[in-house]
Amino acid sequence: MVPRYPDVQFWNLDQLTYAGNLLNLSSIEHAENYTFIHSDITDLDKLNSLFEAHDFTTVIHFAAESHVDRSILGPVVFAETNTVGTLKLLEAARRHWGASASNFTDGSRRFYHVSTDEVYGSLSEEGYFTEQTPYDPRSPYSASKAASDHFVRAYYHTYKLPFVISNCSNNYGPYQFPEKLIPLVILNAIQGKPIPIYGKGENVRDWLHVGDHCEAIDTILRYASTGHTYNIGGGNEHSNLELVGMLLDEVDKARGQEAGHSRSLITFVTDRPGHDFRYAMDYSLLNKDLGWEPAYSLAEGLQDTVLWYLNNQKWLEAVADQSYREYYTRQYASR
Ligand code: TYD
Repeated sequence: MVPRYPDVQFWNLDQLTYAGNLLNLSSIEHAENYTFIHSDITDLDKLNSLFEAHDFTTVIHFAAESHVDRSILGPVVFAETNTVGTLKLLEAARRHWGASASNFTDGSRRFYHVSTDEVYGSLSEEGYFTEQTPYDPRSPYSASKAASDHFVRAYYHTYKLPFVISNCSNNYGPYQFPEKLIPLVILNAIQGKPIPIYGKGENVRDWLHVGDHCEAIDTILRYASTGHTYNIGGGNEHSNLELVGMLLDEVDKARGQEAGHSRSLITFVTDRPGHDFRYAMDYSLLNKDLGWEPAYSLAEGLQDTVLWYLNNQKWLEAVADQSYREYYTRQYASR
């Protein structure tokens, strides 16, 4: 596959922790304008030498520990990677770009920070998160992301480092590690295992296909004004129980099984501690300013995702390895 921008040189820095995998990158690994760097964003010396060597003009910062349940089991690595890692990336950019003051004002440099709707806390049945909603993170994961957002804005106000931030709702789609709800449900349905639903399954999430998220990031990266923040959402709110029901029906359809077959696997388990009730994004600012809106309907997106997982069972087997099974036992055995 040729990346969309053949004239742009891409360097992809990734630590390849448990959720990262070179298999995910095989379609671009031979592209001439792409280089993979196996490294850690908390290694400032390495970041400094990479900035020196390659004179990066743009940072798109996706790197994060992102699973709430893991942040409950072990919060420290979330602060280290998400908060301190972001700070070190900012520091490397400031040091390198700051050598010329005009780099901060002429629009030729940009630090794009990818964040989450979870920084805003939890909604009741009414209302939406807007870009003005006060921060109210409630899990170790969302606290670490909120802190990282604050550092990015602090670098702008203090050093004029040119940033944009986007906060996005729950993603789903190909290549998602099967600790997150949608791939976990598909994997368990394929294996005929119980489908764990926390509490009564009443919590609500706003789902967005990862392809739509990438289009939004590309749009914001190219057209947003420096210092702006945009919410990205799918406009697809469903309770977990509704969503899992729809997803299992897709799995049954794709496997030629009668409707309702996999729904019998649904098992209610002990709720997540501090489980945020509802997330829902108002993305009207992004739509009004830059014209972005999601292209996938939820029905299309779920169908696409189920087919991807069914057609990529080798990938699933490779990522659902021994360490995944150990995590799964730790997370679910006593629920
Ligand atoms: P998740 O994919 O972990 O994303 P987040 O916590 O960032 O929203 O979970 C989505 C929703 O699904 C959330 O309300 C928790 C719930 N959930 C379950 O009910 N069972 C599960 O096994 C998992 C992983 C999540």
